[in-house]
Amino acid sequence: MAIRSVLKMGDPVLLQIAKPVERFDTAELHELIQDMQDTMAYLNGAGLAAPQIGVSLQVVIFGFDQNPRYPRAEEVPFTVLINPQLTPLSGDKEDDWEGCLSVPGMRGMVPRYSHLRYHGTDQYGKTIDRSVSGFHARVVQHECDHLQGILYPMRINDFRQFGFTDVLFPGQGVVDD
Ligand code: NI
Repeated sequence: MAIRSVLKMGDPVLLQIAKPVERFDTAELHELIQDMQDTMAYLNGAGLAAPQIGVSLQVVIFGFDQNPRYPRAEEVPFTVLINPQLTPLSGDKEDDWEGCLSVPGMRGMVPRYSHLRYHGTDQYGKTIDRSVSGFHARVVQHECDHLQGILYPMRINDFRQFGFTDVLFPGQGVVDD
């Protein structure tokens, strides 16, 4: 078990295109995922991508029952998703507030596809194929963007809706370090 430090916006690793995982069920891959889980849990993250701990591989994790960073979000099943492919199921997009452990203390209004299918594997190479919507769809798009070197501020349309969490949501119990 290891809590790793999370790279912050400005670090060039966060701008790289992550490489696909080629070998599954290896000690290295299990260790990476364990470190990601430990780090995400410690920081109350809704999700985490491997590049955020400095590993430029196509690995993301996400999911929670209740999350103090997103107190109004519906639960998302805990998922390890490797080499993901996303396909929007319609052109519909919706705006909502997003944060990122690599952009601490801030939130921005980000448009995301409302409905999408995601496809990939878990750490054992087993296929994952789901069609999702709502916050689940949003988290997947956010995490998979990290694998393309994209951070959520690059998706913001209206920079008047970008700011510090404690200023945007005073006294609303939205945790953000
Ligand atoms: Ni993020």
